[in-house]
Amino acid sequence: MLESLQYRWQRVLNLLTLKRFHSIPFDLRSDSDNGRYVATVRRAVSKDTAFKKFKRDPAYTEILEHVGKDLGLEYLAHIIERDNLTCSDIQSFRVNDLIGAPFIHQFTHGAFRVDCSGTTLRYCSVLSDLLHFFDLRDVRHVIELGVGYGGQAFLYTLHNPSVSYTLVDLPEVLELSRKYLNCHSHLIRAKVEFKSILEFGPETESDLFISNYAFCELPRPLQDRVIEKVMKGSKRGYLIMGGHSVGRVTKADLLEINPTAVILPEVPSTGRANYIVAWGCK
Ligand SMILES: C[S@@+](CC[C@H](N)C(=O)[O-])C[C@H]1O[C@@H](n2cnc3c(N)ncnc32)[C@H](O)[C@@H]1O
Repeated sequence: MLESLQYRWQRVLNLLTLKRFHSIPFDLRSDSDNGRYVATVRRAVSKDTAFKKFKRDPAYTEILEHVGKDLGLEYLAHIIERDNLTCSDIQSFRVNDLIGAPFIHQFTHGAFRVDCSGTTLRYCSVLSDLLHFFDLRDVRHVIELGVGYGGQAFLYTLHNPSVSYTLVDLPEVLELSRKYLNCHSHLIRAKVEFKSILEFGPETESDLFISNYAFCELPRPLQDRVIEKVMKGSKRGYLIMGGHSVGRVTKADLLEINPTAVILPEVPSTGRANYIVAWGCK
């Protein structure tokens, strides 16, 4: 009930926001494509002063970069429990905080201490999940849908440089991720490309499809397009799904589309109805 009200309220806000700040027609808009977010992304792309601190812009943190200290600590505990990334790996990922002026916290777990953003720990935790579920040595081509500024892609390619990584998002957001990853180009050895969903041909093949808090918030016609053009051709998949189920793809739909998929709890949980769907696990 509460989720349905939140969903409706978000739609009302979206309708009230100026049309010129949207990148695609209303019926193809996701929850995060609310006008304010795309406007702030445009500013970060066109103005270096805005880019320098985009990670603390309220219109940006409404959609991403909002992991606080408590949740960050839970991510750190999860990473340490998984035990597939070293302390020095975690420290090295602090490079993700050098651009965009994120809020930095001090996180400690036992004797280990790291000063970084909560969001960097979230991306690190997702990477740790991917290492846990899949044999990433066999993964050559990754497609990520809903990349934000490209932080997950950055950490993935730092840890697994021998891949080609396709980032998929709204055109403006792809410009931001391109600008962001360019700042780190001296560290990135992977082949990186940027595409909108509308650019995919019939059933593109990949070794791993990732979409965190993004596929779940697309409107159904776009979800169907992603299923047909990207998900069906992907050998492995990892999606963090939110509770945006009104009219959208459900757990049952996902299991029908891919009977080998498994539904797992999101750890740590960031929403009562959240879950992970994965397929092609080792
Ligand atoms: C809640 S954010 C999640 C970002 C990132 N995956 C993370 O975990 O930080 C949702 C993402 O979906 C993207 N998105 C919204 N509409 C989209 C569309 N039509 N096609 C592709 N991506 C879209 C947004 O720009 C944003 O990057």
